[in-house]
Parts: sequence; structure tokens; C-alpha cells
Amino acid sequence: MIYSFELEKFLGDLLPKREELFLEMEEQALKETIPVVTPPVGNFLAWLVKVKGAERILELGTAIGYSTLWLAQGLPPGKGRITTIDLNVDRANRALEYFQRAGVAEKIQVLKGDARKILPELTEQYDLVFVDAAKGEYLDYLTLLLPLVAKDGILVVDNVLFRGWVVPGASYEPKYERMVSHLREFLKRLNELPDFQTSVLPLGDGLAISVRNSL
Ligand SMILES: C[S@@+](CC[C@H](N)C(=O)[O-])C[C@H]1O[C@@H](n2cnc3c(N)ncnc32)[C@H](O)[C@@H]1O
Repeated sequence: MIYSFELEKFLGDLLPKREELFLEMEEQALKETIPVVTPPVGNFLAWLVKVKGAERILELGTAIGYSTLWLAQGLPPGKGRITTIDLNVDRANRALEYFQRAGVAEKIQVLKGDARKILPELTEQYDLVFVDAAKGEYLDYLTLLLPLVAKDGILVVDNVLFRGWVVPGASYEPKYERMVSHLREFLKRLNELPDFQTSVLPLGDGLAISVRNSL
């Protein structure tokens, strides 16, 4: 284990008390085993949106909208827009209800369908893209996302260390070999992209943060 449960809990406990709606969503996700970001990762996403001054955000993998609400929290008041994609229509509909309850529904567009079909139809460029959909499809997303990341834009990808198994020498069950190999190849390609600079943080399940050059 390279990032312990205890450390994650400690970092989570340091955060200011979260609104009731966030706590309700965390409880719901836990009950249904929907793998949402941890509070320290959510907090980091909101922080990143603020630091970057991102106003055009794209997310792959809405689920019930927990990480989307963290991203929305980083937007300046009255400004910014998030487009979020999920192929699970039931989850996407529940996310829409949460966005209404949080009072941010007008800032968020939910697209229901497979990101691999939807991404080629998008024409906008984004200041920040957050990827948290199917780990086994990351290489497909990367190709489709590159034209959508604005100059100086940031690409954030979750779960890139996959429980630490992506680190050579880690032991895991053989059934995970394909996923681990895919993520290793993904990280290699990401780091080789000529107009991006990437940094991997061992926060949560591993976050890759790539910034696009301005030249
Ligand atoms: C890990 S969950 C997202 C959690 C969410 N980002 C959060 O932290 O609150 C992954 C989501 O990606 C969606 N998904 C998987 N493959 C997808 C695809 N090809 N296109 C769109 N959504 C996809 C799943 O339906 C699932 O809801």
C-alpha cells in the first residue's frame, strides 16, 4: 500500500465540515458501492479549479454527481460551466437531482451516453478536464480528449495508480493484469505527450495532472 487508508482518513478529517448534501451523497455512494472520489481528492479538485481560474470544465464519469459538485465548488460565483458525461442514465438522472438541490443545476450540463461516442461531437475547448470513467478505456479517452484541452489547460485523471498495483513489483490477482498493463501504458503515453507536462500525485487512488503548454 503506497497511500494508506489511515492517511486518507487523516487528510479527510482535516478538511472543514462538509455540507449535509455532500455527506448524504458520500453515504449513498458507500451504501451502493459507487466508487466516488474521496473528500481529499474532491477538495483538491475544487482547489485546482480555483487556482487555475477554470471556467470551462469537462468531466468523464458523473456517477451521482459527487465529484461534479466539488468541481462546481471551485467555480467563481455566477461564472463557469461544467459538462459531465455518464452512460448510466439512472445515475445521471440522480446527479441532476443533486445539482438542483445544490442550486448549481444551471451551471451543469449532463450528457448521457458513452464518452467515446460523445467526445468527437464536442467542439468547445476546456480549461480543465477530469477523467474518472472506465479505467480500461483511458487510452481511448486520451486520443479523443487531446483536441478538447485548451492551451494552458489541465487534464486530471483519477485512479492512475490503481491501489498501488501500477507500481512495478506490486502484487495483485492475475485478473487485474490487463487493467494494470493498460494503466501503465496510459501513464507512459501521457508522460510522452510533447505538448503536456505531467505530474502524478499519490492522492486517493493516484491522480495524474497534465498541463498543456501555451506555445
Ligand atoms: C468511478 S465512477 C465516477 C465517480 C464520480 N466521478 C465521482 O467521483 O463522484 C465511474 C462512472 O463512469 C461511468 N462510465 C464508465 N464508462 C463510461 C463511458 N464509456 N462513458 C461514460 N461514462 C462511463 C460509469 O457509469 C460510472 O458512473
